[in-house]
Amino acid sequence: MKNFILVLLVLIAFIGCKQTPKNEQNTSQNVDMVYSEEELYRPEFHFTPKANWMNDPNGMFFYNGYYHLYFQHYPDGNVWGPMHWGHAISTDMVTWVEKPIALFPDEKGYIFSGSAVVDANNTSGFGEGGKIPIVAMFTYHDMDKEKQGDIDFQSQAIAYSLDEGLTWEKYADNPVIKNPNIKDFRDPKIVWDAVNKKWIMVLAAGQEIMFYSSKNLKDWEFLSNFGENVGSHNGVWECPDLFAMQTEGTDEIKWVLLVSVGSGGYNEGSATQYFVGDFDGKTFKIDPTFKDHLDKNNASWIDYGKDNYAGVTWSNIPDTDGRKLFIGWMSNWQYAIKVPTEKWRSSMTVARELKLTKTDNQYQLKSLPVKEISNYVSKTVKKSSISIEKGKRTLLTNNTLVDFKSLDIHFKINNLKEDTYTFCFDNKRGDSIKFGVNNNKQFYFSDRTASGNISFSKDFAPNISKAPYAANGNDLEVRLLLDKTSIEIFYNNGETVMTEIFFPKNPIEAFSVKSENFNFEIENLIINELNFN
Ligand code: FRU
Repeated sequence: MKNFILVLLVLIAFIGCKQTPKNEQNTSQNVDMVYSEEELYRPEFHFTPKANWMNDPNGMFFYNGYYHLYFQHYPDGNVWGPMHWGHAISTDMVTWVEKPIALFPDEKGYIFSGSAVVDANNTSGFGEGGKIPIVAMFTYHDMDKEKQGDIDFQSQAIAYSLDEGLTWEKYADNPVIKNPNIKDFRDPKIVWDAVNKKWIMVLAAGQEIMFYSSKNLKDWEFLSNFGENVGSHNGVWECPDLFAMQTEGTDEIKWVLLVSVGSGGYNEGSATQYFVGDFDGKTFKIDPTFKDHLDKNNASWIDYGKDNYAGVTWSNIPDTDGRKLFIGWMSNWQYAIKVPTEKWRSSMTVARELKLTKTDNQYQLKSLPVKEISNYVSKTVKKSSISIEKGKRTLLTNNTLVDFKSLDIHFKINNLKEDTYTFCFDNKRGDSIKFGVNNNKQFYFSDRTASGNISFSKDFAPNISKAPYAANGNDLEVRLLLDKTSIEIFYNNGETVMTEIFFPKNPIEAFSVKSENFNFEIENLIINELNFN
């Protein structure tokens, strides 16, 4: 341990933060061809399809020791196309094994987003010979109807699996919910309502959520809708999720409704909002106190970075575990089809545990990486305190100390001054991804404006991304995951999250810290190197 500290101290150099000259950015001749796309951009542990296009996570359930992750997939091209459900499994939600495609489009349409549940009591009757059916519900998107100019081109359908999610049989009487003449009518997410002993399904319809219930997963009854005059209405509503949660440290149960919105997120583009309230088996009502929690867009966001969309939670997590486990698509519709990977496009966020807290009469949904990630720590560098001199960039570097491919970093700063604290990952060619806190204006930020290849879309890095303070505080706690092309920053124990992707032209090789006006101390720095080989 002592040795590590010594090495770290020796490696602390003081140099000015170099800026990438403007004329060096974004020109294709600067792409360093020494690195293959795989080496430079394929994440070490965030799930990516082996090849071609992926968007939303779908149909996630846990069964017999495996976490299943299905995903919107176009296996024949690296842009969005006829949608299939790809499939991957994991025993810990950190490393994934891709399985054969689960659902293929057919004459009724493309297979859009949806969910899956373990029908342990065989309410659907699909079970045979004692085998427990897994039932998936998805949206059929009929391209021919859409092209003809009809508006009823989306309907809800089901499929079942008797081999634990590997192969699926589509139900003969699909669709189970016909289109009621609503143009955007999709993304069913089923949840078991233990109190009322029935299945509840939430569906995005235009800019509202519709609630349905069923006893058998085949016959669905419309219950109510939600969304008028609340939430962000800057885009189409998609991929809802509904689940009950215990407010931390109390016996209180609240219901959380997640709603992804196609555009107009806090930092523009697609983003996921949430509501905290009550659900009585029929209607969802936002908690009166939650209204104070809404921002300028009338919304509250699960993640303020630009790259966490369409995220939902796993079903069938055993009570003995009890966690609410979430994963999102780590991209944004503004530029997803243009990101500079050719072989595959997009990855998922790290799987996260959600928690609901209530402080000063305010509900807050927090997220942190699942604890299983700690099983992959291969090397740890710890430092109880590092003094940082104002205006100077303090650099932690040297690839022998840590390999910058995938890191899990924790640190604290106590007694924040009226200052801006910037943390920076970069490489010798000057590609940098920065993040931090502006404690004058009270916001967190993530800055990929000089992160390497940004020119593929004007929407990728037009500005820094910002997140408002969730609560006033003098202290800052940071946890972050770095995985080659993504950074996931969890401020103050996951109270505010920022997830952003980036495409440096060379690998990242240094981490540095800077303040503008005051000296400060970094406390309890822990740098965990992660290894997945
Ligand atoms: C969200 C979404 C869903 C739809 C799917 C299509 O990203 O637009 O609403 O089901 O993607 O791939």
